[in-house]
Amino acid sequence: MADERWTTVDQYITELVVQPDAVLDAALEASIAAGLPEISVTPSHGKLLYLLARIRHAGRILEIGTLGAYSTIWLARALPASGRLVTLESDSSHAAVARSNIARAGLSDVVDLRVGLALDTLPALAAHGQRFDLTFIDADKPNIPEYFEWAISLSNPGGLIIVDNVVRDGAVVDATSEDPSIRGVRRFNELLARDTRVTATTIQTVGSKGYDGFTIALVA
Ligand code: SAH
Ligand code: DHB
Ligand code: MG
Repeated sequence: MADERWTTVDQYITELVVQPDAVLDAALEASIAAGLPEISVTPSHGKLLYLLARIRHAGRILEIGTLGAYSTIWLARALPASGRLVTLESDSSHAAVARSNIARAGLSDVVDLRVGLALDTLPALAAHGQRFDLTFIDADKPNIPEYFEWAISLSNPGGLIIVDNVVRDGAVVDATSEDPSIRGVRRFNELLARDTRVTATTIQTVGSKGYDGFTIALVA
């Protein structure tokens, strides 16, 4: 549940610093029209992803969990001319909407959308020696620990890994939770705490999508 003030302030911030964008608006409209769940990152969070990719000078980006490609478009726009983004999606109807949104954004040559369970499509990336400067983990939450392990092994030195939805209305602190998503996030946190390959922090967020948070990890 989003507190009314969080939504009002999120809209205020978005109007201030996120420029109106017909392509991103159309991507969201097409996603809603196709009945996709309304769980894309918010505009201000999308712009944060864009900024992180720019700050990192990311030339190769991996995304796990495409949905209608809203976050994909934000991230792909941060790439240099020769840059590439690989995005993984298990639901073929989500992928169809994403493909059309990516085409409308003029990014079909930049974005490589792969349909299948991420745990089935990630090994091929490794087998082909693909490496990434930034990875955005935003698919099913029970598998976050596995995705994080893949993200580390597919990272270039100095790579950034961003993990979405790691606070979940604060439910993350409930050690007795039987919710598979909470258990996935907690298992991830326990691994993260001991992982000497990364330097990380987690930031709580509020906004029009409620109370949640994300982890940022830098691969040494
Ligand atoms: N990153 C998107 C939102 C992703 S929502 C954005 O911010 O715009 C999560 C997506 O992950 C959904 O489309 C869902 O179908 C997909 N997903 C769920 N389980 C998956 C799996 N095992 N492998 C790949 N994608 C998966
Ligand atoms: C859910 C998934 C997301 O990636 C998100 O940002 C919000 C909610 C979900 O599955 O409920
Ligand atoms: Mg998310």
